[in-house]
Amino acid sequence: MIGIDVVDIQDSGEPGWQHIRHLQRVASAEEQAWVKSRLRPDLALCVLWAAKEAAYKALSCPDRDEPFIPSGVAVCWQPDQLTGLCRWRGRQASVLARMDGYHAEALAVSEWANPHTLGCLYEVSRISGGSFPTPAQESLAARQLAASLLQRAGHPGGVITRAVNGKPCLSGFPEVSLSLSHHGRWIAAAIALPREGNRQV
Ligand SMILES: CC(C)(COP(=O)(O)OP(=O)(O)OC[C@H]1O[C@@H](n2cnc3c(N)ncnc32)[C@H](O)[C@@H]1OP(=O)(O)O)[C@@H](O)C(=O)NCCC(=O)NCCS
Repeated sequence: MIGIDVVDIQDSGEPGWQHIRHLQRVASAEEQAWVKSRLRPDLALCVLWAAKEAAYKALSCPDRDEPFIPSGVAVCWQPDQLTGLCRWRGRQASVLARMDGYHAEALAVSEWANPHTLGCLYEVSRISGGSFPTPAQESLAARQLAASLLQRAGHPGGVITRAVNGKPCLSGFPEVSLSLSHHGRWIAAAIALPREGNRQV
């Protein structure tokens, strides 16, 4: 299973994020120490958040309504790298993250050891234009991105629906794992196909 998350750094000023104890609320002692040790702790927090959401999306079961509780997802980074392991409810995913001054992104993959070596496609993209997109426009743009990834992978595609817990799925193709994210001006999509249909990123 695959999970992706993107954080628009210019739009990460939600009231919850401004709370003086936000970091303590969402991160373990080790994670807090990691954030504080980075050159830009504000950006590091965005990456940590993206990793937690991506791991939750990869590990959540479509037919179970398990809420996303950020402090419940443990992220363990490799020294000086934005790759690592995430653990949640006894399940485990590899995570690969990236950030610049504009956005933070994370891709999480369960079952495989390393996101670099598995066959999957993902893309993170910025929506251009003057005004901020509405949530509906963001959601549509992320779905269009996923459809273009499926096309690139040579998959016939299909309608993207939502499972009981909100997880996206491709109607008629339960073997395809897909994940979507949208925040502010940024959208992201990831797909993982069965082995024979895999493509390297
Ligand atoms: C998964 C979750 C953390 C994403 O948070 P967000 O701030 O909306 O962030 P993103 O934009 O990165 O992700 C949104 C996408 O995540 C996907 N998603 C939603 N729930 C998901 C889940 N349980 N597992 C995997 N992916 C999920 C959807 O594709 C969604 O896009 P859409 O709203 O256009 O369909 C949030 O939706 C959540 O807490 N879900 C918990 C389950 C839930 O609330 N279920 C309600 C029953 S429908």
